[in-house]
Amino acid sequence: TAEDASAGMGRFSPEPWLPQLLSPRGLALAAALLLLVLFLRTRRTRRPGEPPLVKSWLPFIGEALKLQRDPIGFMTTLQKQYGDIFTVLLGGKYITFILDPFQYQSVIKNQKLSFRGFSNKVLLRVFSIKKLVEDDAMNDELHTCYQLLQGRHLDMLMENTMQSLKQVFEPQLLKTTSWHTESLFTFCNSVIFEMTLTTVYGSILLGHRKTFITELKDDFFKFDGKFTQLASGMPIELLGNIKSIRLKLIKLLTTENLAKFQGWSEVVQRRQDILEKYYLPQDIEIGAHHLGLLWASVANTAPTMSWTMYYLLRNPEAMAVLRDEIDHLLQSTGQKKGPGFSIHLTREQLDSLVYLESTILESLRLSSFSSTFRFVQEDLTLHLEAQDCCLRKGDFVGVFPPILHYDPEIFEAPEEFRFDRFVENGKKKTTFFKRGKKLKYYLMPFGFGISKCPGRFLAVVEIKQLLVILLTYFDLEIIDDKPVKLNFSRSLFGIQHPDSDVSFRYKVKS
Ligand code: HEM
Ligand SMILES: *[C@@H]1O[C@H](CO)[C@@H](O)[C@H](O)[C@H]1NC(C)=O
Repeated sequence: TAEDASAGMGRFSPEPWLPQLLSPRGLALAAALLLLVLFLRTRRTRRPGEPPLVKSWLPFIGEALKLQRDPIGFMTTLQKQYGDIFTVLLGGKYITFILDPFQYQSVIKNQKLSFRGFSNKVLLRVFSIKKLVEDDAMNDELHTCYQLLQGRHLDMLMENTMQSLKQVFEPQLLKTTSWHTESLFTFCNSVIFEMTLTTVYGSILLGHRKTFITELKDDFFKFDGKFTQLASGMPIELLGNIKSIRLKLIKLLTTENLAKFQGWSEVVQRRQDILEKYYLPQDIEIGAHHLGLLWASVANTAPTMSWTMYYLLRNPEAMAVLRDEIDHLLQSTGQKKGPGFSIHLTREQLDSLVYLESTILESLRLSSFSSTFRFVQEDLTLHLEAQDCCLRKGDFVGVFPPILHYDPEIFEAPEEFRFDRFVENGKKKTTFFKRGKKLKYYLMPFGFGISKCPGRFLAVVEIKQLLVILLTYFDLEIIDDKPVKLNFSRSLFGIQHPDSDVSFRYKVKS
């Protein structure tokens, strides 16, 4: 039943909220939670036919702390010890990981493994969207909107991004004729936030436009900073002022306030039409749905842009090849870079920039630590190549692509950034092998199957457009030489954030 399902949903990575739990209120709550869990849960034993069960000494939290310290090391150790399939307790939830990429297909195809059983709960916890849990019809309809992010609709979105790049950054960027210094990750967050907001929601019809966006952006990233905690099931009351920030963001995106944006994209238009069928127009939960879409469109795109810029700035050779590639395309399409961002590239032209694309893919390979999860709705048997594998109702199944991304058999010297990894003979490289077999899945920053990211083309196109502009019009230099590492506090959830920011400078090319 639905109730069993929700009781079975658990917390994924509770570590980020440990500090908050050390407050008196938090301690009391933690104690109560722990007691409850210990009462309700007898120690689990492996049943016949089930995958090996990883032993955990910590009740509830299980192995979550180790996963966040060193995700690749942790998973590889388990893989060596238990093989490609095992069940592990992570923050109160038993997850069966399938690590062999040749077995992904059986997870994708199994109808009894539910994506919504996972996502509805996350949407409720993070954005306080309640209706999805009970209304499958609305869920289905909302999903149909996502095709408006692709195909010919993408061409229209691209026009919007280019417009927004022009309007928003032209005056600001082109006036910096001498060197101008910024923090790299902060800069990229800002630019992607504003570009994406205006591309998807339109431009803002307000006198104090800039202040409005800055405030919205700051609140958005504060809220995003607590995403893992919220998704893991931590009560929002324990997260300081995040509850009021979330409410403020939601209110800015209700029907009434959305009217202040001009030039909604098709996806927003359709989403709003559908929402007005299922809610009263003044219902505040409409704003929560829009916050969900805004979050999806910015939260992973911003750090992807950041990492791409970071790796490029640290690799002058890559930078030179990309500048050449872009110059060459501009020349062959007869475009001169006049005053202002006058260049204009079509999607096909952007896609022909194979080194640019490879650089973005390589950055995604290094920074994406997303898992794809499915909820096991009933006891079932997965038929895998080597063996059958019994799954228990109420558990989760997960695939963990980073283990492929960092597999030396697939990617030589996987820790290294190599901008041309995804180019072969001047074309996009798509053949990668494991155990001598060609892989269908080797790079999976966007998930797979039914939950595969519908915004992936937009994300890549947006980053390409921005990089073309930056590389065409500016000299760019990194100032700090210290290496930036990944902070794994968002492990299992998307692109990881950096553990620190670095300075860089830019100047209009003479
Ligand atoms: C580099 C940037 C991006 C990355 C790495 C990324 C990654 C992902 C991943 C891994 C998922 C699947 C989640 C799961 O299986 O649990 C997803 C879902 C989604 N993404 Fe993206 N995404 C990016 C950009 C975007 C953009 C620009 C949009 C634009 C609107 C977008 C919209 C969505 C939506 C709506 C879903 C939910 C799909 C569903 O419920 O079936 N994403 N994304
Ligand atoms: C990683 O990110 C978390 C959450 O933002 C933060 O609390 C922590 O200090 C960061 N750790 C490092 C090493 O940067």
